[in-house]
Amino acid sequence: MLKGKKFILGISGGIAAYKCAQLTRLLVKEGAEVQVIMTKLAKQFITPLTMATLSKRPILVEFFDPENGAWNSHVDTGLWADAMIVAPATANTMGKMANGVADNLLITTYLSARCPVFVAPTMDLDMYQHPSTQTNMATLKSYGNHLIEPNDGELASGLVGKGRMAEPEEIVAALKDFFLKKNKADLSGKKVLVTAGPTHEKIDPVRFIGNYSSGKMGYAIAEELAERGAEVTLVSGPTNLKVCHQNIKRIDVVSAEQMYLASQEKFGSMDAAIMSAAVADYTPAVKADEKVKRTADNMSVELRATKDIAAELGKLKSDKQVLVGFALETQDVIANGELKLKKKNLDFIVLNSLKDKGAGFNTDTNKVTFIDKENKTTEFALKSKVEVAGDIVDKLVDCLQSKNLTNR
Ligand code: CTP
Repeated sequence: MLKGKKFILGISGGIAAYKCAQLTRLLVKEGAEVQVIMTKLAKQFITPLTMATLSKRPILVEFFDPENGAWNSHVDTGLWADAMIVAPATANTMGKMANGVADNLLITTYLSARCPVFVAPTMDLDMYQHPSTQTNMATLKSYGNHLIEPNDGELASGLVGKGRMAEPEEIVAALKDFFLKKNKADLSGKKVLVTAGPTHEKIDPVRFIGNYSSGKMGYAIAEELAERGAEVTLVSGPTNLKVCHQNIKRIDVVSAEQMYLASQEKFGSMDAAIMSAAVADYTPAVKADEKVKRTADNMSVELRATKDIAAELGKLKSDKQVLVGFALETQDVIANGELKLKKKNLDFIVLNSLKDKGAGFNTDTNKVTFIDKENKTTEFALKSKVEVAGDIVDKLVDCLQSKNLTNR
């Protein structure tokens, strides 16, 4: 998968730099070419000699060679690569990448590179959790950079927590996964609608009825679809998330009614739709124009059912379109899931139970079970939402392929 690929390995000054020796060995063993760029501080953690020997190329540190004035062109290096890996990415280096502080060769190369960039952060747990670091990482993601999450564990400081750079094997796996999807592009030419996030149902100008959905699952699905070549329309309720991929067109909505109108309008031109939003089932019958004042001891808000978007699209669905729903249950998960699958005319349904640890709202992980129209049940282990998105999209591709075969 990585044979013949050209990588820039940008090493910044963190203790995890020692892992770059193994990372380089693994990449070279795969048949890849590796050009190492180090910051000055990185040289204190691992020697240029080690890295030059393993990568079989002189490493680059300075803008030019002080001995003979030869220019190390960051532009040429940036354009040469199929991907750039910044590992370890310290808080300092990520801050510079996020804000364009181009005071070393690693950063100028990063700014010049047109290839995908992978960032493997490493630092102490408090530095990692600091809002400044988190904001910089979110900015890098919004530039389309791929973050390879650090692991939990014992840190060089002796503290225990999140901040250990991903292992070289994990970084290589992330690269392989990326190039596999790129080569696959199994959804190129397909259009997919995704709903994501919560809806907010207005009571008055300052209050609403909402839910705890973060939108993370739907956004991960949208990214996965886009990476595999699909043109994605993401109808999103209110979330703090950013869309990274250029193949994703986002339509922001607030209420269930707005989500219904946007989804229904787009569905006709879609090959598939994945309904991952946590849509409110009820909305206040009357939305007050002025703030509702505190008066009696008891008060009630009359609610009216919203449109079931998935069920409405199920009615409109053609033979060639694929419709996927979710079900979040607290009891009788399978039986309720089967009912929803039929009622909404879905091709498959993704079940998650709030009883499973690590599943559901506001987590980075999910544990799901699929039920399809043939009543085939597939249960998955607890995985990251990104990996779950991969499983969902694999199943979607199977459904699209079988529909195209049977309807030809
Ligand atoms: N859904 C929808 N529109 C709604 C309610 C739900 O599109 N008004 C979709 C969800 O996006 C999800 C699926 O329907 O894909 C199931 O949602 P869920 O909340 O689990 O089920 P409900 O149909 O709302 O049923 P209940 O609340 O009774 O479990």
